[in-house]
Amino acid sequence: MPRKAKTKTVGKKTAKKKASTKKKTEKKIEEPKAEKKSRIRTPQLLRGMKDILPGEQKYWNYIKSKAEGLAWGYGYKRIDTPVLEETDLFIRTIGKQTDIVEKEMFSFTDQGGDNVTLRPEMTAPIARAYIEHGMINLPQPVKLYYEGPMFRYDRPQAGRLRQFHQVGFEVLGDSRPVVDSQLIILAYNFCRELGLKVNIQINSIGDVESREEYKEELVNYYRSRRSELCEDCKKRLNKNPLRLLDCKEESCKEVREEAPQIVDWLDEESKDHFVKVLEYLDEVEVPYILNPYLVRGLDYYNRTTFEIWPVEEGEGEVVRQSALGGGGRYDGLVQSLGGQDTPACGFALGIERLILKLKDLEVEVPEQEKPEVFLAQLGEAAKRKALALFEDLRRENIRVAEGLAKDSLRAQLDTANKMGANYTLILGQQEVQDGTIIIRDMGGGIQEVVDYKKVMEELKKRLYE
Ligand code: HAM
Repeated sequence: MPRKAKTKTVGKKTAKKKASTKKKTEKKIEEPKAEKKSRIRTPQLLRGMKDILPGEQKYWNYIKSKAEGLAWGYGYKRIDTPVLEETDLFIRTIGKQTDIVEKEMFSFTDQGGDNVTLRPEMTAPIARAYIEHGMINLPQPVKLYYEGPMFRYDRPQAGRLRQFHQVGFEVLGDSRPVVDSQLIILAYNFCRELGLKVNIQINSIGDVESREEYKEELVNYYRSRRSELCEDCKKRLNKNPLRLLDCKEESCKEVREEAPQIVDWLDEESKDHFVKVLEYLDEVEVPYILNPYLVRGLDYYNRTTFEIWPVEEGEGEVVRQSALGGGGRYDGLVQSLGGQDTPACGFALGIERLILKLKDLEVEVPEQEKPEVFLAQLGEAAKRKALALFEDLRRENIRVAEGLAKDSLRAQLDTANKMGANYTLILGQQEVQDGTIIIRDMGGGIQEVVDYKKVMEELKKRLYE
């Protein structure tokens, strides 16, 4: 009984041994695979950059179509400028000593040796385009709106990205305060109509001269309390004193309490301008909060500065997270770039921040359009016929989806259901032979066989009559 004896010898130990050999062999097989995997490294998204996946697109469409609608309503024309500009454009307008220019620009030298920068904002490019295309010769003011990606190399966190998107509105060629007010009303309505409660914070930083006098006074005051300031603010004292007012450190905020306020230093014209802006806002009952510390982080502003902040539901209190948008008057910008004296004002909203807030508040945004019809098929002959029918339906402007890549009818009906199609057209072998097609009402599940030649007519009757 050699066989039996052999079987007997396969005891626990041997089995274990076998198993462990098996494991080893399995391991051996796996190793080269793992090695192979690690050799092909999948490139990763860069930090602070985001893919906008299909499921997110409804928020983007919602905001973009709101921008388009308001632009039409308020008489703005769309402008697009390149994402890449001469670095000098931003240094000269945003300001050498600002955070954006000092630390946040994606700048490089291109193959031709030019210093170029991925735009960190759109106001300066628009001023450049205004000059370059002689828009001064158009009826003034020129009202432009835009939407697109901006780039800032900042520390990424919620609502702060390295590639983010803005939607913005600019009015060039008018110095009247009513322009500032109407831009603020537009920004306010934009957010309200999206379903967000917001507050406008507003300030005036006067003209260049009065601001210089104020800066001197501010520096004198802060020097007298230098020891209480954070390290950043000690640097700001010499470099960019207005930004002292922006510091979020508690000790600096305390010092700020007694700091001179810019409104007390405004020249007469700026004061009048500011009062008018506020009066116009009162007229349309747009709520605002006077914020004497609102100086903004870009150097090109004069007179009106404002920011749009989300409001905590019920509290009426400004949430200290991040502004949804900001803007102001920039009367000297076009001239500083070599253009004619062109007063201007504008604002931009951050799209990602709007979306965060929309999600936070669970605002219902319209779903992407559902198909009216789903075209299902079964069998090779039906697939061929369906391919052509799909083209006919599309040409007739019927919103049609198809399951051509699927072979199971059940799977296709599942998809049609998930997509929310009103009707499914079913073409099987039998229908191809009979010259018919099935129309299934996805609501009630009722199916009707109709003459294939009449399918368009029958479908339109059901969809539109
Ligand atoms: P800003 O305040 O620098 O102004 O940016 C406007 C908005 O863009 C911010 O309120 C925020 O919603 C969004 N934003 C800015 N940086 C980021 C970031 N790193 N990640 C996500 N969102 C961000 C300007 O850019 C001016 N050009 C606005 C303007 C137009 N002034 C006059 N006209």
